[in-house]
Amino acid sequence: MLVQTITPNTTYEFAAEVSAGLTKPGQKELPSKYLYDDVGSALFEVISHLPEYGLTRADERLLRRHAHDIVERLATPVAVAELGSGSGRKTRHILEALCRRQRTAYYPIEISPSALAMCERELSDIDSISILGFEREYLDGLLEVAAQRRSGQHLCVLFLGSTIGNFDRPAGTRFLAEVRRILQPGDSLLLGTDLEKSSAQLLAAYDDELGVTAAFNLNLLSRINRELDADFDLAQFEHVARINHEGRSVEMHLRSLSRQTVRIPAAGLSVQFLEGETIWTESSHKYSHKEVFEMARTAGFRCVVQWIDEQWPFAENLLIAE
Ligand code: TRP
Repeated sequence: MLVQTITPNTTYEFAAEVSAGLTKPGQKELPSKYLYDDVGSALFEVISHLPEYGLTRADERLLRRHAHDIVERLATPVAVAELGSGSGRKTRHILEALCRRQRTAYYPIEISPSALAMCERELSDIDSISILGFEREYLDGLLEVAAQRRSGQHLCVLFLGSTIGNFDRPAGTRFLAEVRRILQPGDSLLLGTDLEKSSAQLLAAYDDELGVTAAFNLNLLSRINRELDADFDLAQFEHVARINHEGRSVEMHLRSLSRQTVRIPAAGLSVQFLEGETIWTESSHKYSHKEVFEMARTAGFRCVVQWIDEQWPFAENLLIAE
């Protein structure tokens, strides 16, 4: 067992992106990747246990049930890279199955240092594993992983949960195509996709009774207060989840409850909000199980198997690079 971490050098990018998003004409927005600081990652971990949010459990059930089958279909020897490992709990099933067949190098790529540390701790007890974590954005991290590849070694990329759904459809396909460009023919991508379900089920999942999702979303404003010295009054904003029928997505917003001005000194910014105006923080797109095949093909992959959960419409898709 070997565990190491590579850490980044990004700091002021946050201020630049906050500034760009909040001064955008029309709909104000903030990039969803900033939801995942230490507090946000911990809150998301709680969300994944909420009865209303069945997504993470469906993902884990599929991985647990089909780990052996998934691993059997991978060209070997293979190293595993994961885009956004989170706590690593779901990944254990795949890694254990794989480590029974071969010594395995596992490269979690994660922007949250605390999630990365948790994942390294969680998985380090697996026999025959070596872990090298990258505190990086997905594609930067994947490029570094690809540079470590030995000749004849395949790569299996895990992109679980439904992070692909946080891109709009064209951007999601473009992202898969960029992953494909870093891979070689025969490499694989295990992709999680949340499937279409009723509006009532979606609204409950993204606006839970206990208010954990609201806290998760509002934490983005308190993070800006903490790290950029801003003066957002959290009581003057509320979490909103709305269905976008046309886009087949759930949109998350933070709505200003009054007309107000917020100062963000570290971004050199003063922002005005109208009463009722929102900041768009994330969208979560839902797929039909059939469109995943098309998306894969457009991006240069072939979807060879799809496993669908019986309790919560969610699919695990195994894509092979062509
Ligand atoms: N990417 C996850 C999803 O789409 C994360 C998530 C769950 C989320 N609830 C949220 C992101 C609320 C923002 C706001 O399901």
